[in-house]
Amino acid sequence: MRGRRFAVSLAGVLAVTVGLAVQSTGAPAAGSPVAAGQWVNTWTSMPQLTEPGNMPPAPFTQDGLVMADTTLRQTVRVTVGGPHIRLRFSNAFGGAALPITAVSVALPAGGQAGVSAIDTATARPVTFGGRPSTVIPVGAQMVSDPLGFRVAPLTNLAVTVYLATGQASNNITSHPGSRTASYLLAGNHVADADLPGATRVDHWYFLSGVEVFAGRGTSGAVMLGDSLTDGRGSTTNGNDRWPDQLVDRLQGSHRTSDVAILNQAAGGNRILNDGLGPNALARFDRDVIATSGVEWLIVFEGINDIGTAAATPEAQQQVAADLIAAYEQFVVRAHAQGIEVFGATLTPMGGNTGYDDPAGTRESTRQTVNQWIRTSHRFDAVIDFDKVTRDPAAPRQLLPAYDTGDHLHLNPTGYKAMADAVPARLFD
Ligand SMILES: *[C@@H]1O[C@H](CO)[C@@H](O)[C@H](O)[C@H]1NC(C)=O
Repeated sequence: MRGRRFAVSLAGVLAVTVGLAVQSTGAPAAGSPVAAGQWVNTWTSMPQLTEPGNMPPAPFTQDGLVMADTTLRQTVRVTVGGPHIRLRFSNAFGGAALPITAVSVALPAGGQAGVSAIDTATARPVTFGGRPSTVIPVGAQMVSDPLGFRVAPLTNLAVTVYLATGQASNNITSHPGSRTASYLLAGNHVADADLPGATRVDHWYFLSGVEVFAGRGTSGAVMLGDSLTDGRGSTTNGNDRWPDQLVDRLQGSHRTSDVAILNQAAGGNRILNDGLGPNALARFDRDVIATSGVEWLIVFEGINDIGTAAATPEAQQQVAADLIAAYEQFVVRAHAQGIEVFGATLTPMGGNTGYDDPAGTRESTRQTVNQWIRTSHRFDAVIDFDKVTRDPAAPRQLLPAYDTGDHLHLNPTGYKAMADAVPARLFD
């Protein structure tokens, strides 16, 4: 069990919600009904500085100003459920303060991901310190007040945000690889049933987490990764990335239905160097350690480090040594917070244009790294994604039935094979 975890009472949460004074210890008042629990992230997305190509389309992006007088509606699928939720908004990469004017939460129409309509009967305003608006300083994040909004596991939520003045910078925080449709519309439509004429964008902006107030047994597992975890090759609005299919499976058993699966991955991300998002060693505190209720970490990253390092023996020996040293750092830093770490082997890239060099130099780095992951005993457990995704007849390559065609990313069938390879007992 983790030392830093402490339980607060549901009575305390409710008291905060209605603005009553509570004891600073968070201890339940004598005689109050107590349902002990804690806040656990049920959904996350890795915050990134938005590249020019992923900025909101005009007129929602102007010179030095983004989303002025704009409503943004986006859906996210939670993993575990609970009776109360909180939202986290990130301005980690913003070049100016992020002024959020109003926010609402609702169930999307038909419970579907990626739709612009909501079930208005479920819509609730979200507040920050009792107020409808907030201003998030540069580099900061803001946690909303607790909201009585019971969510079942695997529920899609629609979060609608209105920005009156917009963010006065072209540096904004987002998660480009949402694989989910979001909608932008001029004016304040924060509580509207639908957004006719809205502009669809397949990105998430500003929203970086949803927490639930959950029972004491509930904990989170963070997936630290790149495009293979971010879901390149998965179905847009289908939520069939490998972490999604893992939580679908874990929800099927009462032994693991209290495990939140938290995707902290981004396409192109690397462990050792910045690029698409900060390097994983740099973002580790924000994306792993600071996640609420995390008890486990799966590290499945490194192929982009190998693939972008020169295909020379010297450069590749260096990247293998540096990746192994980085994995050691992840283990040390996670263990210091009582988080168990599972290492996942890197999946095949044989035949990928760009990564697989003819001499097999990069492939031999992948083999070296995978051998270390399997045999070093530095991880608390090993998940062998390479073994379950490679073609037995050509083990340097993905099984053709799992391959999107680029010989690097997997299709939903391949992502299911990965999800099935994660032993449920790791989360007992
Ligand atoms: C925007 O981001 C770039 C890249 O990190 C940085 O060089 C620049 O200083 C930022 N501008 C502002 C206004 O924050």
